[in-house]
Amino acid sequence: MSLEAENVTYSYNVGAAAENVALGGVSLTVNRGEWVSVVGHTGSGKSTLAQHLNLLLFPSSGRVLIDGESAREGSPRARELRRKVGLVFQYPESQFFSDTVREEIEFAPSNWGVVGPELEECVDEAVEASGLDPSLLESNPFRLSGGERRRVAIASVIAMKPDYLVLDEPTAGLDASGVRDLTRILNDIRSGGLAVVQVTHDLKSALEHSDRILVLERGRAVITGAPWEIALYLASNPVQGLILPPLARFAHRMRMRGIDVPIHCEVSAIVEALERSRGARQ
Ligand SMILES: Nc1ncnc2c1ncn2[C@@H]1O[C@H](COP(=O)(O)OP(=O)(O)OP(=O)(O)O)[C@@H](O)[C@H]1O
Ligand SMILES: [Mg+2]
Repeated sequence: MSLEAENVTYSYNVGAAAENVALGGVSLTVNRGEWVSVVGHTGSGKSTLAQHLNLLLFPSSGRVLIDGESAREGSPRARELRRKVGLVFQYPESQFFSDTVREEIEFAPSNWGVVGPELEECVDEAVEASGLDPSLLESNPFRLSGGERRRVAIASVIAMKPDYLVLDEPTAGLDASGVRDLTRILNDIRSGGLAVVQVTHDLKSALEHSDRILVLERGRAVITGAPWEIALYLASNPVQGLILPPLARFAHRMRMRGIDVPIHCEVSAIVEALERSRGARQ
């Protein structure tokens, strides 16, 4: 079971003088239970790709397959498939339209006919999974803090019971503890069997938490791989807007000197490898 973008090309303003090729043949496979990050500089096409994964946008060429199935724009099947992929927008308030948090979370399930205790259970589960404070259920979502709004947005998407969760810049505007909390929540969601697709310009966070990373530059896929493969690539190939975190750069330098250090951002793994190497030399 997977969510796949196959050679997706997409242009905004087709035929106009301002035609803009936002994606130029991008492929990505996300399996359930995986955390995949999409990183890249501003304007590299991250949000455009996220909207394709959720069938909000449709490719000019190429296709998006949800559990092996693609659907035509506007078709009833597209609406059904879209339910499998929850998208949390870059600006969470852009997806709100209710007066209370509860109504916001209830919206999708009640639209599909879920009522009564089942609806309440659905809201409770979504509140718990998103780490939202239940005392905010009667509040106006537009009046909440940035971190709370993002949790409301995640809860309202989780209430749809998706198999894939795509989050566009979920850590933007959060402080360090907010980022830690959100990361824990997303890890728990992933452990529950959902796939997490994190769109971010935060390379450090992507290197630390992802199973795999897709690097985009000006609408093109530069490389897809495990975090260590990405760090290794970026250590010698500059990509616009992506600066390798100091720890990953340090690990790369050690490797260049023949010390077999894992090239990612986990301090403990690097220290262990350095100690092993010192032991071997003594
Ligand atoms: N609605 C739109 N109309 C026209 N062009 C657009 C539109 N949305 C995005 N673009 C253009 O498409 C390209 C990719 O934009 P996109 O928003 O996908 O990038 P991004 O990587 O998400 O950027 P950011 O990090 O700033 O969120 C950019 O050149 C952008 O200007
Ligand atoms: Mg974006």
